[in-house]
Amino acid sequence: MKTKITKAVFPVAGLGSRFLPATKATAKEMLPVVDKPLIQYAVEEAVAAGITDMVFITGRHKRAIEDHFDKAYELEATLEASGKRELLRIVQQVVPKHVNCIYIRQAEPLGLGHAVLCAQPVIQDEPFAVLLADDLIDGEPPVMRQMVDVFTQHQCSVLGVQDVPRAHTKQYGIVASSPLSLNLEKVSSIVEKPHPNVAPSTLAVVGRYILTPRIFHHLQQVQAGAGGEIQLTDGIAALMSEEPLLAYRYRGIRYDCGSKLGYLKAQVAYGLKHEELRDEFAAYLQMVS
Ligand code: UTP
Repeated sequence: MKTKITKAVFPVAGLGSRFLPATKATAKEMLPVVDKPLIQYAVEEAVAAGITDMVFITGRHKRAIEDHFDKAYELEATLEASGKRELLRIVQQVVPKHVNCIYIRQAEPLGLGHAVLCAQPVIQDEPFAVLLADDLIDGEPPVMRQMVDVFTQHQCSVLGVQDVPRAHTKQYGIVASSPLSLNLEKVSSIVEKPHPNVAPSTLAVVGRYILTPRIFHHLQQVQAGAGGEIQLTDGIAALMSEEPLLAYRYRGIRYDCGSKLGYLKAQVAYGLKHEELRDEFAAYLQMVS
């Protein structure tokens, strides 16, 4: 097995039903926070982690994501002709030149585990990252960079985790674990969306994973679980019977942009950080609050 992470999987084939009608004709991951789509933040995070191959698992809204990361000849020519150099630079830098984008179609949204399994022909026998773009995480260094550093040291699968209120355990995969160091836990079990009364802890898995390729073997065996979907959590639970699994408490602030409230919070936070906007936006927020 290779010991360096060079490939990232971005599952973007979900229905995004919590965001209808905005997601009727476009993927949830194309929703912008201020001026960038969620998927671009996730790709930038992967690039910052040294990843060079971006594997998108797309569904019926394939076009917008492919077009976003493709060269836009007409737009570039128009910006060039009208002397809009700064905008041209922004458009040309959506993906750095050394990065490859690969698209795989998930014919039906059979679940996150199934989406990850669709990446097997490209990932083959390498450890890889998974980023769910609707979990936007503001971290320094970016969270996948932090996790790749953990992988480099320990050479096993790593889950990004954070503590959540007990009442919220039903929304997450929850781990039982024992501490190894300040931010790192050894996972002993993982369960998908447990009721707060039975959740083994309040340590929740968020949308950042580093997985060894052995996960594919287990995902092939997984039967549809919660919600009739093939759950990544079930594959990870099986992987754990063979290999060590770590949970890493990342340093950063996460915005759940799969939910409307989380998405609005992200707009405010990123608006207040945005160079051009922050002063006027802060003044506006103060006025309306
Ligand atoms: P979610 O659980 O957020 O589901 O998926 P969703 O369908 O996108 O959104 P809602 O719940 O209907 O509003 C987590 C991630 O897994 C991807 C989604 O695109 C999202 O990034 N996913 C989910 C797939 O790629 N394929 C699937 O079959 C399911």
